[in-house]
Formats: sequence, C-alpha cells, structure tokens
Amino acid sequence: TDISKGTYDSYMSKEIDEQPAVLRRIAKEYYRDQQPVISPDLIAEMKQADRIYIVAAGTSYHAGLVGQELFEELANVPAEVKLASEFGHHLGKLSQRPFFIFLTQSGETADSRQVLVQTKALKYPSLTVTNVANSTLARESDYALLLHAGPEIAVASTKAYTAQIAVQAILAQALGQALNYQPKHPIDVLNQLGLAANAIQTVIDQKDKLEKLTEDYFDKHDRAFFIGRGNGYMVALEAALKLKEVSYIHAEGFAAGELKHGTIALIENQTPVVAFILEEATAAHTRGNVKEVVSRGAHTLTIAKKSLAQSDDTIVLDDLNELLMPLVAIIPGQLFAYFAAKHRGNDVDQPRNLAKSVTVE
Ligand code: G6P
Repeated sequence: TDISKGTYDSYMSKEIDEQPAVLRRIAKEYYRDQQPVISPDLIAEMKQADRIYIVAAGTSYHAGLVGQELFEELANVPAEVKLASEFGHHLGKLSQRPFFIFLTQSGETADSRQVLVQTKALKYPSLTVTNVANSTLARESDYALLLHAGPEIAVASTKAYTAQIAVQAILAQALGQALNYQPKHPIDVLNQLGLAANAIQTVIDQKDKLEKLTEDYFDKHDRAFFIGRGNGYMVALEAALKLKEVSYIHAEGFAAGELKHGTIALIENQTPVVAFILEEATAAHTRGNVKEVVSRGAHTLTIAKKSLAQSDDTIVLDDLNELLMPLVAIIPGQLFAYFAAKHRGNDVDQPRNLAKSVTVE
C-alpha cells in the first residue's frame, strides 16, 4: 500500500483529493454486471430484521445519519443511528428483530466495540462496515464489509466518510432488491457513484476559490456556524466537526429551523454562517433562515445544488440524487477545515488532543 504523501503537504489534503478514486473503486468492488454484489448470507440475515441500528462515533456517526435514510428509502426498513458512547450505556427498548451495523473506519473504536459485545451476548446479528479488514470489530461481528478507501492516515476523517455513505447506499439497494421493494424514488446507485466522483472532482478543481473563501470567512474569526435541513443538516454537523478538529475554530452545525428557537441569539455582526441548500422540499425554508441571519449581520456563504441554485450562491454543486448529496456537499467543508488549519499553522494531520482511533471508553 502506498502511504506516502507524494507531493502533498499533508495526508488530509491527499485523502480529500482521493475521494473520486475511492468512489470509483467502491463501484468496481461492489458491482458485477451493474448489480450490487453482497454476500447472500448477509442479505438473508438482514431480510429478517424489523429495524436496523447503526452504531458509530465521530465522523462515522455523521455518515450513519445519511445511511439511516438510505435504508428507509431504498429498502423500506426502519433504521436509526446511535452514538456508540451513549447507546452502550442504555440500549433502551430494542425492536423484536434488530440488526446492528457498526460503522467504524478503524474497526477499533472501544465505544463501538462495547456495544457489539452486548449485542453479541444478546445473540443479535451484526455487520461491521470498516476500512480495516482485520480490525477487532471486523473479526468480532458476524459479517464485515470493506470501505476500500485505502489507509486513512490523517486523524480527521475525510475519504472514510464518503466511502461509508457509498457502501451504505449499495447495501441498502441490495437489501431493497432482495425484499422486492420498489422505492418511491428509485436510485441507480452505481450511476450515482460515478456522478458523485465527477461532482467531487469539480469541487476539488476549485481549490483556489475555496482557499480564498477560507480567508474571507474563517481565518479572521474564531467561530462559525453551519446550517441546513435534512441532508443539509447532516452535512452541517460533519462540516462543523471537521473545522473544529483541525482548525480549532469553534464551529457548530445547527438544524436551520432550530435557529429561531435559541441559537440565533449567537449571531452578531460578521458571524460566519454557511448554509447548505440540498433539498427541494426544504430549500425555501432554509433560504428564509439565511435571510434571518443576514438581517442580524451574519456573513453568509451558501452551498447549493445546481437545480436549486440562485445567482448569488457562493458554491454550486452538481446535482446528485438528493439522498446522496452529502457525498459532494461535504467536500467544501473538508477543504475549509484543511485551509483554515494550514493558515493557522496547525498540524493538519495530527490535531492537538485527538487520536485516529480511540481504544478507551
Ligand atoms: C476518533 C477519530 C475520529 C473518528 C472517530 C470514530 O475520535 O479522531 O476522526 O471519526 O474516532 O472512529 P472510527 O474508526 O470508529 O470510525
């Protein structure tokens, strides 16, 4: 495996750029003759489930938020995502026939493992979706699926996030097909992965513009807010986490509709607010929230998908199926975090206080 930085100044920067190739590799690994290839035993087991519990921490949790919707939309199976560190101390009332998916880049996260230990003791079936084939969770769960993202060295996770969304989409599609479920809005996942790879490349090709935006919005401030609805909210959470982790700017992701219930009190003159406009059904409402923060002096930056874009949007993303928009919408967030950290002279790959995998609870 090639784990040199090559011409890059950091692994984080290299790993951000690898994402189009990672999605193409996942498409190659998981499809034969346009059909998803997943172990029949795994699919048979999942078909029995009345609910899928996705268990994860950190960035993987944010990928799980996207996955939860994919399982419900593409396979019609109720799904929910749980923070491992919370869930493990309170499994709560589980469904009759739960199926557990452990999403973990490293496969070593102690918080996730302690949930697996409990669900195994209860004899519930489990799958680990991981980037590391021989990791603890991959070995201890009943099934494992690989992310094929290649080694992720930077502490802040980038390519594993997009890979986790992609693999969950493929699994949801395969499960939906096995259940003979006809989605209301079917997704050609294989085709979408190709489109996503191209759309991500288009953002990466605008690095100069993104670096300039980082100077204008983040370098001069010590805080920033990210807002959105639906998938835009899920991306807002991950974009804020990236910025916090590597630049140490205090960033928060908020549900755009919740601003008025409290957090709008934080908006002052020039406060940076990034808004994601990714869904037709919620675009107008989120635009309304942008107006509200603008009228309180916020310095807003809008990231919109092309079919919903207006002439004054800051960044326009190529259209994907709405459920998969996080694959491309997170890229500006990753690049803001990288540039902001670099401009501050931080150690981009080894942020203070953080570890790549946390093997204590
Ligand atoms: C650590 C890392 C995060 C990561 C989280 C979960 O806290 O610093 O980047 O998202 O663990 O890691 P996992 O390997 O389980 O995905």
